[in-house]
Amino acid sequence: MSGNFGALNFPGLRSLPVADMQLFPVAASAQSHSIDGLYWFLTIVSVVMTLLIFAAIAFFAWKYHAKKNPHPTQIEGSTKLELTWSILPFLVMLIMFAWGAQIFFAAQQPPKDAMEIFVTGKQWMWKIQYPDGGREIDELHVPVGTPVKLTMASEDVIHSFSIPAFRVRHDVVPGHYNSLWFTATKPGRYHLFCTEYCGNQHAGMIGWVDAMDRREYEKWKSGGSQGTLAEQGQNLFAQYGCGTCHLLDQQGRGPNLRGLYNKPVQLSDGRTVIANDAYLRESILEANAKIVSGFVPGIMPIFKGQISEENVIQLIGYIRSLSPNGPASQQGSQQGAVVISPSASGGTSTSTSPASKIPVNSQQQ
Ligand code: CUA
Repeated sequence: MSGNFGALNFPGLRSLPVADMQLFPVAASAQSHSIDGLYWFLTIVSVVMTLLIFAAIAFFAWKYHAKKNPHPTQIEGSTKLELTWSILPFLVMLIMFAWGAQIFFAAQQPPKDAMEIFVTGKQWMWKIQYPDGGREIDELHVPVGTPVKLTMASEDVIHSFSIPAFRVRHDVVPGHYNSLWFTATKPGRYHLFCTEYCGNQHAGMIGWVDAMDRREYEKWKSGGSQGTLAEQGQNLFAQYGCGTCHLLDQQGRGPNLRGLYNKPVQLSDGRTVIANDAYLRESILEANAKIVSGFVPGIMPIFKGQISEENVIQLIGYIRSLSPNGPASQQGSQQGAVVISPSASGGTSTSTSPASKIPVNSQQQ
């Protein structure tokens, strides 16, 4: 075959020349090299061990062949040998463990100043939302040299977001915010993939990441949009009439959302949780999941199935904007709200709760 395979064309898949496929993708992020280093270590250890084992098999088959060794030798074992081949591999495994754990923990900890971009997976496309309100489908623009944190949600089934050139991948599971982060180091255009089978057009759930240098990125960003993410959320807030209960200047039938983001919330069952992205998402979609102390359940409608994950991200963007220094501290998308003090007492304060104790009314079925 000549090596010219033309292009594969799937519905929704921009032509993907087979010639562009490489055994090893380019390394275009800050974490690429540490991940590649571990990968090569694993590969080399595996190859060396395999060669040693095969060499030993061949050598012993030759040395103890029945013709040369007609009377089998009885070997009773050797403690020294047993200890050696137990302890040495154990130490090598420990190196793999420590090295892998170090990379794993680094991958879980986006820097506090990371730029945040939101990704929603949907059969069969990736929808991207930027804090300034810009939106794209199957295209992700990031600046080079800036840590970028992706907060990801799924509209339907499990997808998996992967950028091989950045050595990042994370499952995108419905019902959760999932996140990953990277720092692009090389300007260029890189593939992004869905790497979890998600239906008959899974193979077409593919897109591009554009890593641009700072200046180019600022120029690209200055395109028009329908307001910032927070403004889009504010419009939705008005559209759904949220403001009739969630008053901003006083305590209404729903909790005041001003200053809420990432603050502790006292629940009616005595627990205290942090109003992070996961908590806000849950409270928007399923108001009765966590009832806030001092508020009556059964007022707020259930929005699950009524609004999209993108809308939820916009609403959270608006709620964040109500906290002056909110987005600076993003503990946001860690899974589930954090229980600080399970036995916090005094959770039954009636009348007006302080703004930091933000309830979300819930509805009993
Ligand atoms: Cu989405 Cu595969």
